Amino acid sequence: MSVSLMSAAIRPALRKQVFAPVASMARSFNTSAPTHMASTNPSPPDNTPAKKEPMYKTFEIYRWNPDTPAEKPTLQEYKVDLNACGPMILDALIKIKNEMDPTLTFRRSCREGICGSCAMNIEGGNTLACLARIDRNVSKPVKIYPLPNMHIVKDLVPDLTNFYKQYKSIEPYLKQKTGPPEGKENLQSIEDRKKLDGLYECILCACCSTSCPSYWWNQDEYLGPAVLMQAYRWMADSRDQFGRERRDKLQDKYSIYRCHTIMNCAKTCPKGLNPGRAIAQIKKDMAFD
Ligand code: SF4
Ligand code: SF4
Ligand code: FES
Repeated sequence: MSVSLMSAAIRPALRKQVFAPVASMARSFNTSAPTHMASTNPSPPDNTPAKKEPMYKTFEIYRWNPDTPAEKPTLQEYKVDLNACGPMILDALIKIKNEMDPTLTFRRSCREGICGSCAMNIEGGNTLACLARIDRNVSKPVKIYPLPNMHIVKDLVPDLTNFYKQYKSIEPYLKQKTGPPEGKENLQSIEDRKKLDGLYECILCACCSTSCPSYWWNQDEYLGPAVLMQAYRWMADSRDQFGRERRDKLQDKYSIYRCHTIMNCAKTCPKGLNPGRAIAQIKKDMAFD
């Protein structure tokens, strides 16, 4: 029996007064229920996923509070049910903060490896918490520290004031002496644009600089891999006309020559970039200036 006819059988008066136009439209469609369902009204299938047993993993997280500076930093333990948590380290940190301990402090913004805010040291390596998967082996705790050898603002938040000051010092923007022809766009060939690949993707997370032993010991004077790679990004840009001057600014004992090509920077970069190679290229160009 069609739906419209069934309605007619159940509520004829109502159908006439209110649903007449709708019923006549419905007749033009085949709305018959399959025969195996026609005379019964089965309860809908239960699609609720079966609740999984809790699976607790221990997170050992660096804590330090500037309000009690005399107290030494500690590693605080939290147990997180991995079956009630997203797959990334940042998911666990957010869960801990939301559900267990609102005093835990860390930076994050985009949750997809774009902003660079959630850089920290996870299991001994600098990386982005939002791109780092939680190891589901629950017998092994995961240790999380702030980026190494930096002044700490609180818990997992490093003070990046000097890092940004150094970034500003390389003048990270297009500089020209003559300006674009006819005062219009700065055109660039496809080949010249390709020279920026592997450089422009840097999100300034500071994972590389804070993994560099030279930067640990000389960060007041050595610019470090992230900032040097950005310096090279502008030297390599065909539209920029200050490459020589940019290199001249680095001609001292520390700014660039503290890099000893140890390559920790390339190993740790969560975006797969190679600041060590960019630094080597600057040194080579300086030799030919
Ligand atoms: S080069 Fe990589 S590790 Fe270094 S700041 Fe850029 S994205 Fe971060
Ligand atoms: S290659 Fe240079 S910048 Fe990179 S980690 Fe080694 S010393 Fe630091
Ligand atoms: S939250 Fe933006 S990179 Fe991780």
